[in-house]
Amino acid sequence: MNIILMGLPGAGKGTQAAKIKEAYPIPHISTGDMFRQAIADGTELGKRAKTFMDEGNLVPDEVTNGIVRERLAQDDTNKGYMLDGFPRTINQAQALEDITNDLNKPIEVVIFIDVDKDILKERLSGRIICRNCGQTYHLTNNPPKEAGVCDNCGSNDFYQREDDKPEVVENRLKVNEESTKALLEFYDKKGLVKRVPGDIGIDNVFAEIKKILDQI
Ligand code: AP5
Ligand code: MG
Ligand code: ZN
Repeated sequence: MNIILMGLPGAGKGTQAAKIKEAYPIPHISTGDMFRQAIADGTELGKRAKTFMDEGNLVPDEVTNGIVRERLAQDDTNKGYMLDGFPRTINQAQALEDITNDLNKPIEVVIFIDVDKDILKERLSGRIICRNCGQTYHLTNNPPKEAGVCDNCGSNDFYQREDDKPEVVENRLKVNEESTKALLEFYDKKGLVKRVPGDIGIDNVFAEIKKILDQI
């Protein structure tokens, strides 16, 4: 199954991707995660991406399209893949169409996780991430079972994302709201969009997604 997970910042794309990956063995391809890894590794790509990410702006399309083309060309995506946070512009959506046509791995469904903007601000300000394994939590909505200890790997080392500061969050939401609207129109015309409510609890959102995926 070839999936796009769409949703505004904080909608729960990464959280649901982790659950999807447990249930269906397909790679999770998050451009945001790829950029953060490049920043951590100190690569040229990372240096370039950081200037945009720190302000909550989009990394230029030519950079982003290139890394997705490389990633989708890898064999582990032959039986399916899920894209998280890509495409984010119409230019990226068109590039993706070229890429998936060339590779013969067409998109089968676009899942849009729908959450109100006010809820998103609160989610992003409370998000914490395990530095060791990348598991995402929320201080109040979704804390680790034992305070300060990662459920997944037992680490005590959590961090908050640089771009989750309130002033950056405001810009991220603004930038993404405009482009998301256009993308939904683009994929609606192709009949690919399935909308799921994103403010009904993590397991309930997953149950809705599972219903959709089990039909593919
Ligand atoms: P990216 O990393 O993709 O960030 P984003 O789109 O802003 O989305 P987030 O990762 O913040 O949110 P999420 O939907 O994954 O939510 P999560 O599951 O963590 O991109 C970062 C930056 O990289 C961009 O700003 C841009 O600069 C650059 N970039 C990336 N892709 C690009 C592209 N294609 N083109 C150009 N630039 C690009 O959940 C959030 C919180 O809510 C967590 O605390 C979680 O525990 C909690 N939560 C989740 N679900 C629920 C629920 N159902 N109920 C209650 N709480 C919940
Ligand atoms: Mg994410
Ligand atoms: Zn962990």
